[in-house]
Amino acid sequence: MAAVASTDTVTILVNDVELQVPKGEIIVESVKRLGLEIPIFCYHSRMKPVGMCRMCLVEVGFKQPDGSVRKMPKPQAACTLPASDGMAIYTDTEMVHRDRKSVLELLLINHPLDCPICDRGGECPLQNNTLIYGPSTSRYIEIKRHLPKAYPLSSYVTLDLERCIQCGRCVRFTEEISGDSQLAFRFRGASMQPSTFELRNFESKFSGNVIEICPVGALTNAEYRFRARPWDLETRPAICTLCSNGCNVWFDYRAGKMVRMNGRTNEAVNEEWTCDKGKFGHEFYNDEKRLKNVLVRRGEKLIESEWATAYADLIPRFEKAGKKAAVLMGGSLSNEAYYMVQKLVRNGFKCNNLDHRWTKHLMGANDRLETKMNFKSVQTQIASFENKSAVLIFGTSLADEQPILFLRVRKAWFQNGAKVVVAHDSPTDADSFAHLILRYKPGTEEALANAILAATVESGKASVPDAVKKQLVDFSPEKAEKITGVPAAQIREAASLMGPGAAIITTHSLLNVDKAQDTLEAVAAVGMTTGAEFNCYALNANDIGADAVGILPDGKAAGKDEGLNTHDILQDCANGKIESLWLMGCDPFTLHPDRHLVERALESVEFLVVQDIAETEALSYASVVLPMCAPAEDDGTYTNMEGRVQRLKPVLDAKGNAKSAWRIAQEVILRITPGAPIFNPKDVMAEMAGKLPAFANATYDRLEGEGVVLSEA
Ligand code: SF4
Ligand code: SF4
Ligand code: FES
Repeated sequence: MAAVASTDTVTILVNDVELQVPKGEIIVESVKRLGLEIPIFCYHSRMKPVGMCRMCLVEVGFKQPDGSVRKMPKPQAACTLPASDGMAIYTDTEMVHRDRKSVLELLLINHPLDCPICDRGGECPLQNNTLIYGPSTSRYIEIKRHLPKAYPLSSYVTLDLERCIQCGRCVRFTEEISGDSQLAFRFRGASMQPSTFELRNFESKFSGNVIEICPVGALTNAEYRFRARPWDLETRPAICTLCSNGCNVWFDYRAGKMVRMNGRTNEAVNEEWTCDKGKFGHEFYNDEKRLKNVLVRRGEKLIESEWATAYADLIPRFEKAGKKAAVLMGGSLSNEAYYMVQKLVRNGFKCNNLDHRWTKHLMGANDRLETKMNFKSVQTQIASFENKSAVLIFGTSLADEQPILFLRVRKAWFQNGAKVVVAHDSPTDADSFAHLILRYKPGTEEALANAILAATVESGKASVPDAVKKQLVDFSPEKAEKITGVPAAQIREAASLMGPGAAIITTHSLLNVDKAQDTLEAVAAVGMTTGAEFNCYALNANDIGADAVGILPDGKAAGKDEGLNTHDILQDCANGKIESLWLMGCDPFTLHPDRHLVERALESVEFLVVQDIAETEALSYASVVLPMCAPAEDDGTYTNMEGRVQRLKPVLDAKGNAKSAWRIAQEVILRITPGAPIFNPKDVMAEMAGKLPAFANATYDRLEGEGVVLSEA
């Protein structure tokens, strides 16, 4: 936001050193080019500057025709000052040092100096600036003002008003970035306080970010409070695996326990933000129900055992079953795990009954858009949304399903004026900035998608074959209005916004609606015929990796389904046609839409292996239970919804005797067909890069920084 207004450059002087910078660049940013730093509190590079704290005061002058510099009589806030030709900045003068001391002395008049018991102590910009630029003593001896402490703004965020320095970062975040406007200042002057409306709950899907950007300990993390001091923590870079966005984060752990997650900058993915689902969702690493030991069934009981015993129990059952064996997986295992598992199933068990998908509609090999329409189902990367003129969000609540993408689309609207069209059967967060809301009746997605397509054809914007034109007669905007409840004029306006420069977003949740395949194809056709980029994004951390590696009944290679999909596998388990089933990182009771079918399947299958990180409902049906590492307990890579492969290095130790999924698969493979073992995930990826063209660039030496996008995402 602090951004550069133009690509023209101007010449400025910084402490008498001449410097070329983009015209309009904020001076706080310009001086960084010389390795200098101006202290700040309220300034944040992703939000509009407001000049509230005065910490960044500098002396400013302008070059005169005779070459001298004429200084302004008063210091200026460097965070609100755009660079212009001939400007001279002084960051290291007596006046600047005196002003910085005064600002800090003022800020500390009422500051409680809770440092020894403040969560921010040790990583606090107020502490740091005071130490570097502040006075060594204060002239103020008056009793400090007292205000409520540890006020719970929500179950996630705690406010300590005494510590607030009224910088406005938190308020501006909710106005400019998340857009929920949950915080505002009440009262004025020295009494000004950040607050929710009438002190109600801080309802936001992104509230955790204000904790990180608060430059003092006024906003603290309710879950982390008093659990550690910064110097007790080990901090490692990681990837959040709680949705498909693949946010870059820091994991903080202490004594082997995960205690905190903070955002880490990756401009291509999450900039620096996280959502609350991710930020406060990593307690599962410490869950009491984590599986730590191998269990094997002996009679009615599951008893603790060894890996060798478990393998001896399960391998003959799967080898014997052959085509009557099946493996179902979750969507959040690593690429390396998926690769080794498909190798095990295809080469070891010699079957193709393998799937990781849990939506109602499962596309067959020939139903995929890539095969059927020769059209890619993911065409836009997250950062590119900023440049879109229009975005159609179809059938998804973006803030819930793709939180970080939601922030980008909102940014496209807020900063660049993108026109956002939201088509959904109920209100969503994106409605607040939508240009147009198409509120359709539940279950009428197909009619609406076809109506938008028909409107693009009607306007001459797009052309379709005659056979399709005939079908679209039933979906003219007027006819669709009767079916969907969306006014014909709105359908036409939405269609008019589609074209090159626009993008369409839908997600795999569209595969749960009635006539899912037809709906998906109609939405894709809008993109295909108008030139708008089309995207049907996956929802789990590594659905894209599982697809690319071939955790599908056809392995994505043969072009026809040779094995059974998720629904057929469960049906055949229930009918006694599948003898051995292996569940890896998935609980069918929570994932499958038909609970009754799951119950019958798990009751009927002769031999069931449950491999997971924690206890699930399926455990009680298991013949063998295998404890598996959680994502941050092993090295591995994950492919996010835009096809970006990112590495998650191990942060925590495995729990008990748990092993990583790729290693379990390899140990079984070696027992079936002895050969040279692979020793680490890096070598698994090297093998994948050699065999799967999509992963050709994804070797570990290339994954530092922003990761790499699959060549066939
Ligand atoms: Fe700034 Fe923190 Fe106060 Fe918000 S709570 S105004 S971020 S100091
Ligand atoms: Fe994690 Fe997804 Fe939230 Fe990012 S958007 S923090 S990946 S849950
Ligand atoms: Fe410039 Fe606050 S950082 S006024």
